[in-house]
Amino acid sequence: MSVGAKVTLGQAYLRRASALFPGGVNSPVRAYRAVGGEPPIVVAGEGATVRDADGREYLDYVGAFGPLILGHAPHEVVAAVRREVEAGGPFGATTPVEVELGEAIRDAMPSVERLRFVSSGTEAAMSALRVARAATRRDLVVKFEGGYHGHADGLLARAGSGLATLSLPASAGVAPGVAAQTLLARYNDPASVAAAFEQHPGQVAAVIVEPVAANMGVVPPAPGFLEELRALTARNGALLVFDEVITGFRVARGGAQARYHVTPDLTVLGKIIGGGMPVGAYGGRAELMDLVAPAGPVYQAGTLSGHPVAMAAGLATLRQLGAGVYARLERLGADLEAGLLAAAADAGREVSVGRVGSLLTVFFRANAPRDFDEVEQADAGAFARFHRAMLGAGVMLPPASQEAWFLSAAHTDRDVERTIEAARAAFGS
Ligand SMILES: Cc1ncc(COP(=O)(O)O)c(C=O)c1O
Repeated sequence: MSVGAKVTLGQAYLRRASALFPGGVNSPVRAYRAVGGEPPIVVAGEGATVRDADGREYLDYVGAFGPLILGHAPHEVVAAVRREVEAGGPFGATTPVEVELGEAIRDAMPSVERLRFVSSGTEAAMSALRVARAATRRDLVVKFEGGYHGHADGLLARAGSGLATLSLPASAGVAPGVAAQTLLARYNDPASVAAAFEQHPGQVAAVIVEPVAANMGVVPPAPGFLEELRALTARNGALLVFDEVITGFRVARGGAQARYHVTPDLTVLGKIIGGGMPVGAYGGRAELMDLVAPAGPVYQAGTLSGHPVAMAAGLATLRQLGAGVYARLERLGADLEAGLLAAAADAGREVSVGRVGSLLTVFFRANAPRDFDEVEQADAGAFARFHRAMLGAGVMLPPASQEAWFLSAAHTDRDVERTIEAARAAFGS
């Protein structure tokens, strides 16, 4: 903002937000620190488009970071939310809509025999690991470098080079003793997981994994990787926890476990199952979930858990997600990937794309990365310039190089073509 320049409505809100919220935001990536420039103040969305406070429209690939698989304000979801708000909840009691959503999830993911709704993915992952520790009477958890499972203390383990070593906290304020309960392994490298089991025999309660890594940019599982995790955990008496907060109802209706035919012991969910409202869930085999209070000794509770408005939004969303939607998302994703790669090649840019269905990341490096070390080798500065050019052309990408872009059912072939045209210019700039 230059001195003396007219302050736009968006800039005025940015100033007020900066005075109120740490870094001006209520979740760090929204501050645009990784890409620079002024983060937009967004006032409305419809379909695949969002509008900022100054009336500019953008084609949206943020998708609220994953929940909006139908795009913004799909009328079935809006109608369901309106009905539920008018019904007067929440009630601090069980409602029909949470039963119906729970059954819809169980139908789509048969490994989830029982589940518990919570209010965020963070809560869900944290609670699932509490169950895993109780079930195995072990303390340690293996997570992967570059994997994100929310901001619970023990899961903020540093993404660094210490393979299969006790991790250091990646955030200030996390007690080293808590972080030391988390071991780090390398994504797509089963040997690093085997090493964790060998170095800590009889101590690992669970391996938690994003079955398609999406929080270091999209990194698909190598053939056989998830199967190896299944075999290693079973052999060592540990539980396999799939964090499907992003992949659930995204890479297939039944999530990554359906797409790759690997069955976890516990599943963590969020995002799409709340249709854009705050939600999370964790579930799995009945005998594991029956450890949760009041059925069992693992305490976990929530004032707003199973909030009827969130349940109704999730149920209305899931009802729209038939095979046709996934087929179309797959085709749109493939077209976008091919178009972006061609546009980059024409501009003489070395980029690669990591993609599974409607989840996609452009990496500014020649080969698609297979793990976090390779992700870190991509040119983040080039992404930042690309992001600014795309935003200037009316295409809103997630504001960091290690995020997934989210296509929705509201995106059209024309939207994808427009994106590729904008990218052609942005790669060349
Ligand atoms: C895979 C994964 N797990 C857990 C979380 C945490 O979910 P929430 O932000 O709802 O707490 C996220 C959030 O992005 C996620 O992508």
